Amino acid sequence: MDEMKLRPAPDPSGVMSDLVENTTINRRQFMRLGFNTAGGVLAASLGALGFAAILLPPSGAGGGDAAVKFWAKGREDEAWYGAMHLQAMSKSVFEKEAAKSNVGMSGAQGVWNGLPVVVIYVPHAENKDKGATDDVPRFQFMAGYDVTKKYVGHATEMLLAQPELFEPDNNLVMIFSRCTHLCCIPGWQLIDDPTTKDTWTPGGGDDGGSKLFCICHSSRFDPTAIEVNTNVNRSNGQMFDYLGIRRAGGPAPVGLPIIPIIMNGDTIEASTEYEGWLTYCD
Ligand code: FES
Repeated sequence: MDEMKLRPAPDPSGVMSDLVENTTINRRQFMRLGFNTAGGVLAASLGALGFAAILLPPSGAGGGDAAVKFWAKGREDEAWYGAMHLQAMSKSVFEKEAAKSNVGMSGAQGVWNGLPVVVIYVPHAENKDKGATDDVPRFQFMAGYDVTKKYVGHATEMLLAQPELFEPDNNLVMIFSRCTHLCCIPGWQLIDDPTTKDTWTPGGGDDGGSKLFCICHSSRFDPTAIEVNTNVNRSNGQMFDYLGIRRAGGPAPVGLPIIPIIMNGDTIEASTEYEGWLTYCD
């Protein structure tokens, strides 16, 4: 995958101008034309891998029940969960895979109620009392700032008021996998890139690995950096605050929303109560 040609990420200081420039693209046009162009390059790089197949779970797949399922279509030979396509996700499977990681993390693409998601295992419970040290990942609760750099709120405050949103000692986080830039589907280790390596740095910045990566324009998201942010419902224009993971770099204006996990024994399920946070894409 080294030959993959992606548009270089802009300098972080140019995020706003890049956002303005890119949002002039009609989203449907982008998905139909620009997406196909990008997809052509990527599909060539990915060989037999069906680009659309990995990015676009059908709306019916996994729909209608609470279970979160692995989504490995086209990556059966490559992803660690390739043999578990459309099987229900369980925490113990993530723990087993995390034991092979330098930093104790694992992640997988999934589908939940027909929506693309990513579930990431972070060894928070065992690392939370250790110092802020490279390659010792834990969840970090942070202040959030919108695209105008205005303070939105702090994750700790939101979690004090709504603890059901996220249980850090469960060592799992699930995010809605539609990019806040132009709604492509960021993934876990879909490419071989410094930001996706099996490393970790504290601070929620754009260094270190274990980031989610959006292959369309290379936005990065840190699944360990939990923050409050704000986005807009595309149907009615209303702004909403949400709990999410931090945008670390690239043209995405803000981070990705969390979908609250509900454990059913070892099985990973999720709450439908915060679907309003998923309304920023068509
Ligand atoms: S859609 Fe552009 S970076 Fe994700």
